[in-house]
Amino acid sequence: MQTNQTGASFISPRENSGKKSQKTPLLRAENLSHAFDYLLYEDLNLTINSGDSIAILGVSGSGKSTLLHNLSTLLKPKKGKILYKDRYLYDRKSQELLDIRRNEFGIIFQQHYLFKGFSVKENLDISSIIANKKIDFQLLEKLGIKDTLKQNVADLSGGQQQRVSIARVMMKRPRLVFADELTGNLDRESADSVMDVMISYVREEQAGLFVVTHDEEVAKRCSRIYRLHDKRLEPVAL
Ligand SMILES: Nc1ncnc2c1ncn2[C@@H]1O[C@H](COP(=O)(O)OP(=O)(O)OP(=O)(O)O)[C@@H](O)[C@H]1O
Ligand SMILES: [Mg+2]
Repeated sequence: MQTNQTGASFISPRENSGKKSQKTPLLRAENLSHAFDYLLYEDLNLTINSGDSIAILGVSGSGKSTLLHNLSTLLKPKKGKILYKDRYLYDRKSQELLDIRRNEFGIIFQQHYLFKGFSVKENLDISSIIANKKIDFQLLEKLGIKDTLKQNVADLSGGQQQRVSIARVMMKRPRLVFADELTGNLDRESADSVMDVMISYVREEQAGLFVVTHDEEVAKRCSRIYRLHDKRLEPVAL
């Protein structure tokens, strides 16, 4: 176990496997502010504990994706700090941030960024090599894409592509998953299957999930829900 700069204890989800009910902070945002042309949000505080699934709702343009980028190593906030393990995220060297992004965080983007012109299997092979993890065929089955392996990703439907991109990230077995419009292209049934996969993964691995969504049914599956509104994160009860 390690002690961070603010005195709280941070341990990895797997180190914590014997005490699944005990929550451990995985990531903490302190007084986060971000602005582009105008202020999107200020003084946001948020802790993602092991076993937490956090849904973020909010109108288009409120800053949900920006917040996800702040939290997931992609974009340094204008103000505030993000504590991961024992140190602040953006105090780390860029190579260290890259390693965290590659090995410990899983980021599922609003756009899928699959390699068009390659088959589903080839796309998964690339991730498998980078992450040094075997392709999880059970996961593909749960996501309903096991029969698409030989198909070119460009020939898949938007929803199938989305599920391939989810599989590609989840195969890494990330400690923290950041998902932007996780189920944006999916019908209700597929969206529910994806959430089954995500929620059981978080519970079994004591990982953390941060999901931006417009879908209140998706949000309801999460352990905490917030709305990004008026530059603040407001807790929501659905
Ligand atoms: N790199 C950037 N440079 C300048 N402005 C940006 C940049 N990224 C986002 N913005 C602006 O910040 C605001 C919030 O964008 P963001 O993508 O975070 O919203 P969002 O809540 O995710 O919206 P949506 O629900 O439509 O995805 C928008 O007005 C957007 O134009
Ligand atoms: Mg967005």
